[in-house]
Amino acid sequence: MSLLIKGGRIVTAADDYVADVFIDDERISLIGLDLDTPADRVIDATGKYVLPGCIDPHTHLDMPFGGTVTIDDVEAGQISAAFGGTTCHVDFIIQPQGATFAQALDTWKAKAAGKQVIDMGYHMAVTDLDDGGTLEELASLPEQGITSYKLFMAYKGALMVDDETLFRTMEVATKTGALVMVHAENGDVIDVLVKEALAAGNTEPKYHALTRPPEAEGEATNRAIQLAHLAGAPLYVVHVTCKEAVEPIARARELGWDVWGETCTQYFFNSLDDISKPGFEGAKYVYSPPVRDKSNHDVLWSAVRGDALSVISTDHCAFLFDGQKTLGKDDFSKIPNGGPGLENRLHMIHEFGVRTGRITLNRMVELLATNPAKLFGLYPRKGTVTVGSDADLVVFDPEKQVTISAATHHSKSDYNLYEGTKVTGSPEVVLLRGRVLVENDELVASPGVGQFVARARFGEELRPARTAVAP
Ligand code: URP
Ligand code: ZN
Ligand code: ZN
Repeated sequence: MSLLIKGGRIVTAADDYVADVFIDDERISLIGLDLDTPADRVIDATGKYVLPGCIDPHTHLDMPFGGTVTIDDVEAGQISAAFGGTTCHVDFIIQPQGATFAQALDTWKAKAAGKQVIDMGYHMAVTDLDDGGTLEELASLPEQGITSYKLFMAYKGALMVDDETLFRTMEVATKTGALVMVHAENGDVIDVLVKEALAAGNTEPKYHALTRPPEAEGEATNRAIQLAHLAGAPLYVVHVTCKEAVEPIARARELGWDVWGETCTQYFFNSLDDISKPGFEGAKYVYSPPVRDKSNHDVLWSAVRGDALSVISTDHCAFLFDGQKTLGKDDFSKIPNGGPGLENRLHMIHEFGVRTGRITLNRMVELLATNPAKLFGLYPRKGTVTVGSDADLVVFDPEKQVTISAATHHSKSDYNLYEGTKVTGSPEVVLLRGRVLVENDELVASPGVGQFVARARFGEELRPARTAVAP
């Protein structure tokens, strides 16, 4: 199946120009002016942007967490992603306590079998190096295309690891060329604060935020940076929320250290006001690290406008309000942590980042597609629009008006963090390797079209599987 996209404004991290794109055999094979190459289908993209499919490096689909399981399985989560212009994501495998990494990988692959709508890779979240996985096994994961290790410095008694496990994993990463990712909050301190709050009878959702202060995030961020530097490992700090965490990342980057930071859509918009809403409404905004004081919104915009933070992800970890968030009705520490977001990242960042002039279109593409591709071993196969790349493309209508709502989103969650927000600009056609996934607000592909992508090691490029045949 060949496809010709005519007259669109092609926007990459570096370029912005009007041209035609010819797609053949899943890849972009030609970009030029006034192409008249015969094609099975022609899409008129006049007045539209042609963007690389967005990449979300931080999702939790079908994941057991907080006494329940995230409500979006691979199919529902990936359909949401496709509607929002995301064509590839990297999901977290969580190593169950006592399980080997191979067992964990098998479990996660089984969850995805037959359900994939977009392409995906995996990070391995290390929880146990004593009774389950070994350092040797961890070292073998990059050979299987799993080239990032994640460690939780919080969630004491569940996913949290100690500094020894963190540091040993970093040492393995240094040897194997994997990228180390951290959830940076001081879990021991948070555990004390949570116990104190509950003992004082403070059970409402807002105490989730009040017991996870910015200092706990800043301390853990700085600790991870120093330990990674000592181990010689590259470090990626996930879901950065506040000045206390941005500052050590910015400082490390100024020193030329291999440190990157990510924030997530929700941290630009939600705040302590949301989690403090009356009744139990605030539970919708219980995720970790927590919502912060509004002053941090500008801190984050300025960090992504400059280069302190390099990626915006979603941390999509969706639950139902009714039946899952309500597990913590009488105790905030029992509210499952996480929220939906896969579908609305591009909508929200385009509206409030690009249309307000906070960031350029090029920077938006860099934050949502190109940098995730480069950092997670997917570039240049994905994350840009160039000859030879997978034809993962979004024909984006900058004039289309959308009102974001749980009534129309594709996540199974019964609420949306941006309910009622009106945006101008939305994907019109979404392509995965040249195949139309979404067109005119309809899903036109069936689950099964997405693939697992074996990612390159940190700093290495991923070239398309098939090499061009010389003429
Ligand atoms: O609250 C969150 N973020 N839930 C997902 C797990 C994590 O910490 O990323
Ligand atoms: Zn986290
Ligand atoms: Zn997460």
